Amino acid sequence: MKKYILILAVSLMLIFGGCLTSSAAEFTVTDTTAAVTDAPADSEMIVALYSGETLTGLSSYSGSGSITGNYAEDMPAALGRSDSIKVFLWELSTIVPYEDSFEAELDELSSGSNDSNALIVYFSATGNTESLANTIARLTGADMYEIVPEDPYTDEDLNYSNDDCRANQEMNDPDARPAIAGSVENMDEYDTILLGYPIWWGTMPRIINTFLDSYDLSGKTIMPFCTSGSSGITSSVTTLRSICAYSNVTDGFRGTASTSESAVLNWLETNGFYEAASNS
Ligand SMILES: Cc1cc2nc3c(=O)[nH]c(=O)nc-3n(C[C@H](O)[C@H](O)[C@H](O)COP(=O)(O)O)c2cc1C
Repeated sequence: MKKYILILAVSLMLIFGGCLTSSAAEFTVTDTTAAVTDAPADSEMIVALYSGETLTGLSSYSGSGSITGNYAEDMPAALGRSDSIKVFLWELSTIVPYEDSFEAELDELSSGSNDSNALIVYFSATGNTESLANTIARLTGADMYEIVPEDPYTDEDLNYSNDDCRANQEMNDPDARPAIAGSVENMDEYDTILLGYPIWWGTMPRIINTFLDSYDLSGKTIMPFCTSGSSGITSSVTTLRSICAYSNVTDGFRGTASTSESAVLNWLETNGFYEAASNS
């Protein structure tokens, strides 16, 4: 309940632009944590993350004296969507703001990604990889390109319990290169390709080879992701590294249609996506 009152109060302060000022407490705000010293007894430090004027995440931390909040740990998905942060200190016995807010830009973590030179390229026969690609798009702001087969796969084509189905025939032929409808016009503009596919027979479908054959990706970073019934992504990453010897192929991410944003964000951060985006 207390939390909701605070959320409401922070929202009202934002709407009416009210930030009270006083001088007692001292804030330290970094891109991962906020701390306040000299907080009165029974205080609440609120960290609010914003994308422009939109509130994307909120977390509160209670204490007296020194209060530290680690919002990178507490709301990583919101952090990935945010470009600025405000910190409020509240004195709970009166439920009024005690101390001013502090604002810091989070350029290095996320805002740079909105105009990043990253492209999400994905193939999805039944929608799972597309769903994961959409999650990645929300977290990165990257452009998207769907690999659409010139000859769409029917249910029968994908029925891999049938040895002769189209998908199995393709996977049994290393030279198979199913045609793609359309193309990426401006591949030169992208430094990072987030490449998604379903796992077929332990690796990537042949249509991904068609895509790789169609562009010069040397010098670019390729970040592979996949969905599967249960198989991992490692084998396909090894294949990608041998095909794209002049690209930087990062560790891959295997998810499902409903993978959490925080898991995806962790992969993006661990593999330097946001640093690359802010350097671009
Ligand atoms: C031809 C074919 C082969 C498959 N092989 C595997 C496999 O080796 N391992 C696995 O875990 N899942 C396998 N699957 C399941 C898919 O990887 C899984 O359903 C995936 O999420 C589908 O993604 P999509 O909806 O984006 O097409 C296979 C599916 C098909 C159609």
